[in-house]
This record gives sequence, C-alpha cells and structure tokens, in this order.
Amino acid sequence: MQIVFLGPPGAGKGTQAVMLADKKGFLHLSTGDILRENVKNGTLIGKKAKAFMDKGELVPDNIVIEMMLDTIKNTRSHEDFILDGFPRTVYQANNLDRELNKLKLPIDMVVYFKASIKTVILRLTDRRLCSKCGASYHITNMPPKKQGVCDKCGSELYQRKDDSEKTIKKRLEVYNSQTKELIDYYKSQGILKEVSGDMEASKVYSELSEILTPPFLLQRDASKQKELG
Ligand code: AP5
Ligand code: MG
Repeated sequence: MQIVFLGPPGAGKGTQAVMLADKKGFLHLSTGDILRENVKNGTLIGKKAKAFMDKGELVPDNIVIEMMLDTIKNTRSHEDFILDGFPRTVYQANNLDRELNKLKLPIDMVVYFKASIKTVILRLTDRRLCSKCGASYHITNMPPKKQGVCDKCGSELYQRKDDSEKTIKKRLEVYNSQTKELIDYYKSQGILKEVSGDMEASKVYSELSEILTPPFLLQRDASKQKELG
C-alpha cells in the first residue's frame, strides 16, 4: 500500500508516520528527514538544498523529484510505504504519478492532516529532535523524560533551524501558495481522506487507523501476524 501524507508544517505528519511505521510496519519516507540527512553528511544534494531549507523555501523540484524517485525505486516491491512531505507541488505530483504507474504501485490513499495556524505555530516553536536518532518531542505536548535528552538513545535534543517563528511563517506561506492545491488535485482523483490534525496524537492515530482499516490494513495485519508466527 502506498500512502501520501499531506498537510501544513507542524500538522503532525511525521509523528503519525512514525506511529504507523512502528505499529503496522510501514516504511516511512520523509523528504525533510532525507534532505536533513544529506545536509548533515555534506552530500551534493545537501549542499544544494541547505539554503532553501534554512529560509523555509521549497528545495527545487528537480532535486527533490530525483532524490525521492530513487528512494522509492530502492524499496523492495512488497513494502508498504508512507510518503511524508512529498509531493509538495503539482509538478512533483505529476512526476510521482507517472513513476508509480510505471512501477505498478499507484498511490492508494492521500491523507490530508487539517490543522489550524495556531496549532502548528505552537507545535513547531516548541519541537525538539534527537541529534542522533531523529526522535521527535515537544516541550509541553510530548516532553522527554529528562529535559534535553532523548528517551530512546540518550543523545542531546536540538531545535531545527527552520523552527524559528519567522521561518515557520515563511513555510506556512509556501504551503499555502505551492502545496495546498494538492488537496484538490488528489480530491479529483478520489483518493483524498481528511483527518483532524488538531487533536491530541493518540486521537489522530485512532482516526487514521479507522480510515486505513478496510480492506488494506486488515490484510496487512493478517500477513504481519503470520510473519510473526
Ligand atoms: P519537512 O521536514 O517535511 O517539514 P514540514 O512540512 O515543514 O513539516 P514538519 O516536519 O515541520 O511538520 P510535521 O507535520 O511532520 O509535524 P511533526 O509530526 O514533526 O520539510 C522541511 C524542509 O525541507 C521544507 O521547508 C523544504 O525546504 C524541504 N522539503 C521537504 N519536502 C520537500 C519537497 N517535497 N519539495 C521541496 N522541498 C521540500 O509535529 C510537530 C510538533 O508537534 C512535534 O514537536 C510533535 O511532537 C508535536 N505534535 C505532533 N502531533 C501532535 C499532536 N497531535 N498533539 C500535540 N502535539 C503534536
Ligand atoms: Mg515532518
């Protein structure tokens, strides 16, 4: 099953994708995470992408499309995946559709996380991430057990450079002008489902699980159970 997560920055796409990956075995392919990894490792992609990311602008389509289509082609064909943060422009969506059709892996569902501006600003300004394993926290909503330290691996937490108030506003502008139109794009394909991203994470997850249940995940759960013996 191929799912796309769509929604404004801070709507909870990454948080829900990690939960779904943990509980249902989906592969979580986050464009933002892959780009940040490239920046960290100083690759050519990272060098080209950094300035755009720091300013809260989209990385040029050609760079992101090639990077994500390569990533998808490198997944094993039986693996279910979530595309988190890709596509973000109609041009990216057209390229993705074309490639997935060639691979006979068309998108099954696009989940749109609807969230208010107030929610996303509060979430992003107080988000913290693990410098080693990438786990995500929120100072008040999802705090780590020990302040500034990752529960999972004990490494230091940091704040994303683009999570400053000024850059968050820019990211929201970019979302409204370049990404939001994908809601209608996928609605017209009949594959868009909406969840309320404003609720607490466990409630969002319940809504998401309901949407994803029949018939896909029932089949998935059965095969996963079999695998686990
Ligand atoms: P990316 O990393 O994708 O950032 P984003 O879309 O701006 O989204 P976020 O990761 O900020 O938000 P999220 O929805 O994942 O929220 P999260 O779950 O973390 O992209 C970064 C940059 O890379 C872009 O600006 C661009 O430059 C570039 N880029 C990426 N994709 C691209 C593309 N396709 N084309 C071109 N350029 C691209 O949650 C946020 C916080 O809230 C966390 O602290 C979390 O703990 C908390 N939280 C989550 N859910 C809840 C909840 N339900 N209740 C309470 N707190 C919650
Ligand atoms: Mg994210």
